[in-house]
Amino acid sequence: MANEMWGGRFSTGPDALMEEINASIDFDKRLAVQDIAASKAHCEMLAARGIISEQDAARIIDGLSAIASEIESGAFTFSRALEDIHMNVEARLAELIGDAAGRLHTARSRNDQVATDFRLYVRDAIDHIRGQIRSLMLSLAEKAERFADVIMPGFTHLQVAQPVTFGHHLLAWVEMLARDDGRFADARERLNESPLGAAALAGTSFPIDREMTARALGFNGPMRNSLDAVSDRDFVLETLAAAAICATHLSRVAEELVIWTTPQFDFIRLSDKFTTGSSIMPQKRNPDAAELMRAKSGRVIGALVTLLVVMKGLPLAYAKDMQEDKEPAFEALDTLSLTLEVMRGMIADMEPNAQAMRAAAAAGFSTATDLADWLVRALGMPFRKAHHVTGRLVALAENRGCDLPDLTLDDMRSVEPAISEDVYSVLGVENSVASRASHGGTAPDNVRAMARDWIERLKSAA
Ligand code: ARG
Repeated sequence: MANEMWGGRFSTGPDALMEEINASIDFDKRLAVQDIAASKAHCEMLAARGIISEQDAARIIDGLSAIASEIESGAFTFSRALEDIHMNVEARLAELIGDAAGRLHTARSRNDQVATDFRLYVRDAIDHIRGQIRSLMLSLAEKAERFADVIMPGFTHLQVAQPVTFGHHLLAWVEMLARDDGRFADARERLNESPLGAAALAGTSFPIDREMTARALGFNGPMRNSLDAVSDRDFVLETLAAAAICATHLSRVAEELVIWTTPQFDFIRLSDKFTTGSSIMPQKRNPDAAELMRAKSGRVIGALVTLLVVMKGLPLAYAKDMQEDKEPAFEALDTLSLTLEVMRGMIADMEPNAQAMRAAAAAGFSTATDLADWLVRALGMPFRKAHHVTGRLVALAENRGCDLPDLTLDDMRSVEPAISEDVYSVLGVENSVASRASHGGTAPDNVRAMARDWIERLKSAA
């Protein structure tokens, strides 16, 4: 049987394999809510412009509402023969209200329809994900305030570098997430224009009102070029790019959690809710959730690459290739959303082991830079020379098998005779972090102020 939507010039229906590659209903049924909202806006505009009668419009709107309830309750039967969500809804509308249903598709095409639906869907997804990012940021900022004084090693090359505070480290994550939030906000702003009324590619000869449909759907206005309106998928690409960067951040955070929960580090304890045991080794507490978050970034990055490749050679305007935008986007946005939720749960329950962190921070000559800075400040030494002298003091301590603060004054003077007792005031890790009060530095007072600032900003925006 030829297709009932466009079968006029066809004598037979599609091959089963054609349906297999062509039908998108299995995944684009997720656009049902947006598809119905856009159809209602279009229908009301057609009636307002006198393109269809008020009676037909009323029947169409009632029919669409009935379909929305059927879909919500699970009573709707989706058909692969009807290809996609647009034709599934329209065919059901015809069953429910008869001939008037055929008037809904006046002055539009599935090309502007799908572009509109997907923009609405991605816009909702962005709003949801931004809410999740911000609640994760709030959890982190609250922890940062609570643990502003807890000292831990800061690393470069994963080698102990200088002492920092745990709160400072958590606030670094907050900054990363704040940029993610900003990228999603930017993508949302550019996305928020309506393709509806671009029709197949060239616009329409009907006297439609694109401002009206744009406003009804919460868009800032109609897109300016009909060819661009049906062929643009930048809004998905930008959202996936923001998602990929965010997932990369979460993966880096997850990696730190994995490292910190090893018995060798023992910096944090994750709650039982987010760890698993081993079926053979009873002593184990594995950070499976963190490992999975680290790995899930692959799917999100993969989705971005998939769609870039789909789009890269496409001539204007619409091509069916673009149907392949949905599955990767759904998967990426679902995955990111799950990851953000799990991360928030893990962070909320995470407890630092302050003793182990402090001990690790004090090891590995982590206050060597403080010593060099003291030589510059107290003795007027050029920094390069101070670096060299400090290097010799580190070597001496290493030889003695002790830490820098454990060297006697005589030991120190054997390397640099001008060193005085005052040097010890900069050598402990507490002194070290307290002294780093420069803008953005790790001093506990800085961290407390910054954490409070974030908490206020996030709470007042919520
Ligand atoms: N299911 C299609 C998609 O997702 C809708 C647009 C189809 N348009 C067409 N001319 N075949 O892209």
